[in-house]
Amino acid sequence: MTHTLDALGDWRRSHTCGALTKADAGSSVTLMGWVHRTRDHGGVLFIDLRDRYGLTQVVFYPETGGKTLIERASHLGSEWVIAVRGTVNPRPADALNPNMATGEIEVDVRELRILSACEPLPFQVNEEHQLAGEDLRLKYRYLDLRRPELAQVLALRHKAALTARAYMTSQSFLEIETPLLVKPTPEGARDYVVPSRVHHGSFYALPQSPQLYKQTLMIAGCDRYFQLARCLRDEDLRADRQPEHTQIDVEMSFASEEDVFATVEGLFTTLWKECLGVDVKAPFLRMTYDEAMRTYGSDKPDLRFGLEFKDVTAICAQSPRNVVANGAKAPGGIAVAMTIPGGSEISGTQLRKFEDVVKQAGAGGLSFFKVSAADREKQQVIFPGEMLDQFLAACGAKDGDAIVFTNGPWERTCKALGVLRSQLGQAELEKKGLLGAAPDKQEWRFLWVRQFPLFEYNDEAKRWEPKHHMFTMPNPEHLEYLETDPGKVYAQLYDLVLNGNELGSGSVRIHRPDIQERVMKVIGLSHEEAYEKFGFLLDAYRYASPPHAGIGLGLDRIIMLMAGRDSIRDVIAFPKTASASSLMDNSPSPIDAVSLKELGIKHS
Ligand code: AMO
Repeated sequence: MTHTLDALGDWRRSHTCGALTKADAGSSVTLMGWVHRTRDHGGVLFIDLRDRYGLTQVVFYPETGGKTLIERASHLGSEWVIAVRGTVNPRPADALNPNMATGEIEVDVRELRILSACEPLPFQVNEEHQLAGEDLRLKYRYLDLRRPELAQVLALRHKAALTARAYMTSQSFLEIETPLLVKPTPEGARDYVVPSRVHHGSFYALPQSPQLYKQTLMIAGCDRYFQLARCLRDEDLRADRQPEHTQIDVEMSFASEEDVFATVEGLFTTLWKECLGVDVKAPFLRMTYDEAMRTYGSDKPDLRFGLEFKDVTAICAQSPRNVVANGAKAPGGIAVAMTIPGGSEISGTQLRKFEDVVKQAGAGGLSFFKVSAADREKQQVIFPGEMLDQFLAACGAKDGDAIVFTNGPWERTCKALGVLRSQLGQAELEKKGLLGAAPDKQEWRFLWVRQFPLFEYNDEAKRWEPKHHMFTMPNPEHLEYLETDPGKVYAQLYDLVLNGNELGSGSVRIHRPDIQERVMKVIGLSHEEAYEKFGFLLDAYRYASPPHAGIGLGLDRIIMLMAGRDSIRDVIAFPKTASASSLMDNSPSPIDAVSLKELGIKHS
């Protein structure tokens, strides 16, 4: 196929494709963009011309444009790039399109320049066609990004980044870049490593976060730091995890947890107002980790629906049925119940499926009651006499509801029931019309979850590991348990949660070398190993660190929620697949033998 292409020459756009309104009627304009859609109505050719700002209907009339022009235009295919010159006309009343910003006008084309032809497309860009499979769209990402909805997401992301920068600047924070070739940062994932050409056998790591460097900046007196920081982690990917993500990374000196909360709340209320036009109320709700786990079975509960747990340990512990009582009576045990309003309609088969869910999530089993007079007799085998009414009252259940309950070690049991709560919550959200709701119709339930345990026990490795990272300050009143009972140590560690998503995580940091050494000992890191890993920070502490605190906020997740998308892949220009590859540029890929030799690398 050969086409005569034109040069751009001295033509320049007078407007974008999203700009023209009735007020422009009569003006001569020059527009450029992609051919989004073409329609031929009895010899009159209509083209929707698209750029990232919008669509404009440009029309080739034989009477005004002439036969030659229309004959040339009739060869245009989807996604060709063209430039047109013509006159803005109001549309006839029966052709107005209120769904289009430019829906009151059309451009009567008098001149055409064809700037680029497009080969047959692997998938259609315009919305008349069903969405192509994600792999195909990732391979041809540049085509996918032409789709107006993705172009809008990129614009939203830009606006949010700019708003964040302006807000942080207004609060006296400085944006400071930290290096990309670093010592490994202990965030808990695997590092991506970069071999050194100059020092064979030595490697840089790509930063999992700027954690060590932002703390060093506090010791350097920078006082208030932020950065839109790229973070790289070699970890198993999910819808909300990519190998490369961006954090709004924050650290502040002489600050408490409350100072961080106030700063972040200001940031989010500003972001929501400026980018979505939505008023969000601050301060956000606060809840301890224990409370969140015991009430919702999750450290990132979605508060848009209820299904709260009730602690029924005391009653269950008295049940004559061992399967109900034993887990509740054991040290550290709990019995938790969740009432499903109107749940007596749920079938027995479905309830047994619920049991599979919680068992797979780690609970021993699940009991269920339907609240109805007919079922009382068999329920009294479990709760004899007055106990049954006490149990129903404790659950806040009424006729027609169902109650599911389980027992066992508190954290594992609550977490397992939490998995079921999240699943059932989807139906609640649907009922409330919140699934897929537009941002201004959405309920934004921000929450601080605070006071996490400092450590968690790794059963396989048989050792304590930091729940977040090892630079988190233990609660002063728990310092005495550091060596004797690490499980009892809680910390000034907090997460920002929104609608069931962890948006950010941070802590008040250890700023004293003596406490840092004690924490490292608990996780089995010797002084020498610690020096090997991040000696520079330990050294810096020796020269007096201000008390400091901070947080890392996941920008991709923030934009995902703002844009109402289900995956962060949709809000990243060039994302990776679940197996961490890029289908567009085919990375990762082997490198040539010469480069390998230069880097001193042999591989089998
Ligand atoms: P953390 O590891 O919890 O903390 O990360 C902070 C936030 O970053 C986002 N996030 C991710 N987003 C997309 N893909 C990923 N793979 C990914 N990993 C994390 C999440 C998360 O809440 N240095 C500390 C912060 C601090 O203590 O200041 C840190 O990185 O939204």
